[in-house]
Amino acid sequence: MPLVTSTEMFRKAYEGGYAIGAFNVNNMEIIQGITEAAQEVNAPLILQVSAGARKYAKHTYLMKLIEAALEDTKLPICLHLDHGEDFEVCKSCIDGGFTSVMIDGSKHSFEENIALTRKVVEYAHAHGVVVEGELGRLAGVEDDINVSAAESSYTDPNQVEEFVKATGVDSLAIAIGTSHGAFKFRPGQKPQLRFDILEEVAKRLPGFPIVLHGASSVIPQYVNDINSNGGQLADAIGIPEDMLRQAARMAVCKINIDSDLRLAMTAGVRQHLAAHPDHFDPRQYLTPGRNNIRDLVKNKIVNVLGSDGKA
Ligand code: G3H
Ligand code: 13P
Ligand code: ZN
Repeated sequence: MPLVTSTEMFRKAYEGGYAIGAFNVNNMEIIQGITEAAQEVNAPLILQVSAGARKYAKHTYLMKLIEAALEDTKLPICLHLDHGEDFEVCKSCIDGGFTSVMIDGSKHSFEENIALTRKVVEYAHAHGVVVEGELGRLAGVEDDINVSAAESSYTDPNQVEEFVKATGVDSLAIAIGTSHGAFKFRPGQKPQLRFDILEEVAKRLPGFPIVLHGASSVIPQYVNDINSNGGQLADAIGIPEDMLRQAARMAVCKINIDSDLRLAMTAGVRQHLAAHPDHFDPRQYLTPGRNNIRDLVKNKIVNVLGSDGKA
């Protein structure tokens, strides 16, 4: 089966009250861990690639690995550019075989965001590719950009209809209190999301797929495994799983997860090397990293996203 767009996935997810997992990929072990899990529970997948991932692994290597995953699993897989920052990177991914791109104009003014997003949509749609836009700004770290809590802003529901109409985007990422990275709330702060904003956005855009970035739960087990094997990740806090389940039942059709994958892999590698300080074959310590990713993704799909059995 060739790569698919997210159109059908989102239509079914909206109707079914579940969400599709969008997992960031950077190398073979991550791709294998994710796709093995999805295959076991028959779940559709979005694999997403950031500019940083393209720089690290190179576009061609990632394309070939994903091609291998398609052949191996026979799953419906959508290949998505995560946080495209300008027209050029979106064009390069569209020309290079991606089926979905995000143009992240959230750091621009409303008008500039519309103009940039519109330009990407025109090119993407002419090539059969779908587009995710963003309104509102998440806090946290993406690549080298660090957005402080003070610079972040919730999505204004009053802007969403005009944005979607003027740009023609196929899905919309909104900011309701999630953030990128493993430190989403201050120690002692009660995790909270603005479900009122999500509800209001859904009212203004009936049936339209909404995307949640910064949605890792920062699973305590993996943080503990890292910290008890030489790591130092004090105060890592994520989004509680019940909040993600609630979002998935509402208009959220795509839930982005990267930090949880990083933590799971690092926990497996650290645990292995701590137990076997004499090992130096990468296959020995990458195997538990990959197994942790597989277990994490399976648990997400079945217990949080609800996309199992929907491929
Ligand atoms: O939202 C950002 C993703 O976690 C990707 O991170 O840009 O460091 O690859 P990255
Ligand atoms: P996390 O850092 O919460 O995994 O978010 C990932 C993300 O939003 C990728 O776009
Ligand atoms: Zn993101």
